[in-house]
Amino acid sequence: MAHKQLQDALAEAATHTRHGAVASYIPELAKQDPDRLGACVCLLDGTVLTAGDVDIPFTLQSISKIFTLILAICDRGTDYVFQRVGKEPTGDPFNSIVKLETIKPHKPLNPMINAGAIAVCDMIAGSSVEERLERIMNLLSRMTGMQDFRVNEEVYRSEKLTADRNRALAYFMKDSGVLTGDVEETLDLYFRHCAIEVTSREVAQLAVVLAADGKDLQTGVSIIPRDVARICKTFMVTCGMYNASGEFAIEAGIPAKSGVAGGIMATVPNRMGIGVYGPALDDKGNSIAGVRLLESLSEIWNLSIF
Ligand code: DON
Repeated sequence: MAHKQLQDALAEAATHTRHGAVASYIPELAKQDPDRLGACVCLLDGTVLTAGDVDIPFTLQSISKIFTLILAICDRGTDYVFQRVGKEPTGDPFNSIVKLETIKPHKPLNPMINAGAIAVCDMIAGSSVEERLERIMNLLSRMTGMQDFRVNEEVYRSEKLTADRNRALAYFMKDSGVLTGDVEETLDLYFRHCAIEVTSREVAQLAVVLAADGKDLQTGVSIIPRDVARICKTFMVTCGMYNASGEFAIEAGIPAKSGVAGGIMATVPNRMGIGVYGPALDDKGNSIAGVRLLESLSEIWNLSIF
């Protein structure tokens, strides 16, 4: 019954893809098929439900911001991290530069916008970009039980060649003392981890670990400290859907993080993880059909946490 409900909701949401458009400011992302839509639901008891294009790989993009935040907090502690990055929503687009200069101190308002995530990348421990990236992929492997995460080299290079805005954010933060490491290395780590490939099936597996307070579903062993998982889910509610987070909290009420490749990772505490892929985006940069699907599922299954 739940499987049929998921399939029906996906079929209805798919009619909305034509109202959106794939991201094109990273040229390689513009090659995605806007009509794709897939969703996977992982329940805490291990049940997996799928519908549509669940095995199409896409890049994490901003969904990665959750995993770098987890590592940075585990590496440096919350005091260190939140001295450099704030905890407040911005109401601005994800790549906005304006408040970095107008608000004092010049720290990014939260870790879910680009400036904040670049600052968080600067805090990931490791002796090289490769080692730091490996640590991020290791976390994904521990959360999903999958070993072979890879970076999509075309998307990585495409972003690196066109990332003038992110460079501006990073150099401004270096000048303000928010970034302490080598700026180009930090940006390189940021571009690479945004280009890690996943499927919506894997995103659902990542999401369900957060739903289980950071615990491995099978063994019950803690992968992410409970408190860190709680911080992530809170940011997902307040800032996870960019400057549409308030509306999404009202309409769906599910902690979620989206990325410009069209992925959404949604976490219903103590119930399920949901991974969605639909690359046609709305004007805020969220998957247009993905948002629609999550709003429908929330209504059908009573998923709102509020
Ligand atoms: O930095 C960028 O613009 C992309 N790599 C990620 C953007 C994204 O998914 C939305 N950001 N919060």
